Amino acid sequence: MSLSLSMPAPAVMPAPGDAPPALRHLLGIRGLTRSQAEALLAEARSWKAARAGRLQALSRRPLAGRRIVTVFYEPSTRTMTSFHVAAAALGAEAVDLPVSRSSVQKGERLDDTLETLESLGADAVVLRHPQTGAAHYAARHLSIPVINGGDGTGEHPTQALTDALTILERRGRVAGLKVAILGDIRHSRVARSNALLLELLGAEVWLSGPAAALPPAGAFGGARVTLNRDEALEGADVVMALRVQRERQARGLLPPPGAYRSRWGLDARDLERCSPDVVLLHPGPVNRDVEVDGRLLEDPRCAVLQQVANGVAVRMAVLHTLLGQGGGRSWSTCSSAAGW
Ligand code: NCD
Repeated sequence: MSLSLSMPAPAVMPAPGDAPPALRHLLGIRGLTRSQAEALLAEARSWKAARAGRLQALSRRPLAGRRIVTVFYEPSTRTMTSFHVAAAALGAEAVDLPVSRSSVQKGERLDDTLETLESLGADAVVLRHPQTGAAHYAARHLSIPVINGGDGTGEHPTQALTDALTILERRGRVAGLKVAILGDIRHSRVARSNALLLELLGAEVWLSGPAAALPPAGAFGGARVTLNRDEALEGADVVMALRVQRERQARGLLPPPGAYRSRWGLDARDLERCSPDVVLLHPGPVNRDVEVDGRLLEDPRCAVLQQVANGVAVRMAVLHTLLGQGGGRSWSTCSSAAGW
C-alpha cells in the first residue's frame, strides 16, 4: 500500500507488512526515503486527529515510562516546547538540560555530556547545536535515538515535516506545487530541509534571496536558485519567508533590517504575483516588518500559527516512530482501524 499525500487525513496507519525501512535516528531529510517521509506525515495527521478527538490511542499513553531529553545549545521557543508537549501527549517524560547552567559551561565536551544523559536514563535525545553535523556526531556516540533539532546551517528535519504537513492541509497535496523559499537561504537549515523534503514529495522548489545569501549550486538538492525574486514568486502556490540568520554570518554580509525590508521583505503586493490561494509560511521567529510585513501575519493566507500547531503532531509522530512499541529501533503503528 502506498500512502497518497493528496488523500484526506488517514485513520489507518500502514500495516507492519507495508512498513518503510525502520528509522533509528532522525538526523536530516537527506537519507530519508519518500515512503519514510510519507509515513511520518500520515502518522502526524493521525496524531493530530487523535488529539482533536481525544481518542483512545492517546489514553493508552503509548510512550509511558520513556524519557526524552532536550539538549539545546541555541535558543528555541517552538521546537523545544513542541517536543515537550508532544512527549507529554504520548505519556512520556520530557526533561530539558539547561545548557547555560550545565557542566557545558565548565568545558565538558559534547560527547561526554550526551553519554552522561544516556547513563542518566534518557531514551532519546533531541539536540540543537550551532555546529553543522552535531546531530550526526551525537548519533555516532549514543546507542539511543538522536533527533536533530537544528544543527548549524545543516538541517532541521522536524521543521520541514511540520511545513509539509501544513502545505498538505492547506493545499491537499505537495506534488506538483511551486514553492518559493525567500531570504537568507545559505544559512538556513530550515530552507535546506524543506528544499530536500518538498522535492522528495514532488514539489518544484525555487530559492531566491540576496546574492550573498544564495547557496552554492547543488547544496540544496535540485532546487532552482534565482536572484530574481519575482521569477520565484510568479504563480507560486507556497511562499516561505526566512529569518536573516545574523548569528551565523560575518557582520555586514547582508543588508541591515531597514534595507533588507525594502528589497527583500514580503508584502501584500508580492503575493499578487502568486497563485490566488497561495500559502504563506515562516518557520519563526518572525522579525515583523523585516522579512514579512506585519499585516500579512493576520492575512488568512498566512499559516504561521498552523505551522506551530502542526509541530506538535509531527514531533509526536517522530517520537512514536523512534521509540514506540518498547524498542526505539523498529517501525511501529500508532493505531488500527478497530482501535480508532
Ligand atoms: C528556526 C531554527 O532555529 O532553525 N526556527 C525554528 O526552529 N522554528 C529558524 C530560525 O531560527 O530562523
